[in-house]
Amino acid sequence: MAQVELEADSVLTGEEEDESLLLSMSSSSNKLQTREGWWTTFVLYDGCWMDRQAAMSVSLVRAQFVPRDDDVLLATYPKCGTTWLKALSFAIANRHRHPVVSAGHHPLLTQSPHDLVPFIELPFRHIHPLAAALDAIPSPRLLGTHMPHHLLPPRIGCRIVYLCREPKDVVISTWHFMNKVIEGFSIDFDKAFELFVDGCSPFGPIWNHYLGYWNKHVEEPDRVLFLKYDDMMADPAGHVKKLAEFLRVPFTDDEVDAGVVEEVVRLCSFEKLSRLPVNSSVVAGRVGVDERPMKNSVFFRKGKVRDWKNYLTEEMAKKLDAAIEEKLKGSGLTL
Ligand code: A3P
Repeated sequence: MAQVELEADSVLTGEEEDESLLLSMSSSSNKLQTREGWWTTFVLYDGCWMDRQAAMSVSLVRAQFVPRDDDVLLATYPKCGTTWLKALSFAIANRHRHPVVSAGHHPLLTQSPHDLVPFIELPFRHIHPLAAALDAIPSPRLLGTHMPHHLLPPRIGCRIVYLCREPKDVVISTWHFMNKVIEGFSIDFDKAFELFVDGCSPFGPIWNHYLGYWNKHVEEPDRVLFLKYDDMMADPAGHVKKLAEFLRVPFTDDEVDAGVVEEVVRLCSFEKLSRLPVNSSVVAGRVGVDERPMKNSVFFRKGKVRDWKNYLTEEMAKKLDAAIEEKLKGSGLTL
């Protein structure tokens, strides 16, 4: 992909103008493949489906993001538990500044995990300048991304925590999210499922997203930690310890004896976070993918494993399982 210096305030007008700019930044010289069905036209941008605004933002991040060696990037496919991972990592990394035991004033009680750990590509960086938001954060920075590994800024060499989830639960969560998050947009479940299985979902195909980070994890296990939502649900305390080690702030024996690990689990649990006014109120807390105000409550629905059983027919489950199995074959990754 060519490195293009974009002006942060270059708001584009017109699809054609967007298209030619995106093509100049894409590794493809052909017209970008498009597909309808989601809230707006999706483009296949360097092998990854997203809307044009997201593609612009991703391009800008690739061109302008200044990485630091001690950054930690929390990477996820959307709806895999990003909010939870951000909360856990923030609580663990900052526990000396913000104690979690008797955490009456903890930042997670009054701020969304998405404000405490910002995404590098959101809100859209051609509209909301990248540098101003991210350069001011003191090191070591915790940052989030939904970008697939192959689209990360080329100079990124920091540690990465990747969290994946059972795709059948991801498609359900995605469908609910999309029907809540974009004003005036709704999509039938059958249509959303069809797009998802075809790989055309936000930042999809999901299998490429998983494999990009999985392959990096296999290559560099000390630099890329690979986690699964269902495993985290089954053993949150074990994963909190694992995360702390990876973040280079392991728990001391005294902390373990004092129950700090369990306090982190409690503070970041779905039950705790989803009931806080900041995460449950109807007040808009951020700018959404359609550039309209978005409520923090959209990030909390059920927080359960295997909720897909309430939605998918046996045939649908088999179809998605078969697609995933085929794509992951030989990789060593099982879900
Ligand atoms: P469901 O829609 O299945 O309930 P993301 O944060 O990547 O957008 O993912 C959202 C999913 O994670 C939603 O799943 C949401 O309910 C769940 N979630 C949010 N906070 C959570 C938490 N603290 N613990 C477990 N799951 C959580």
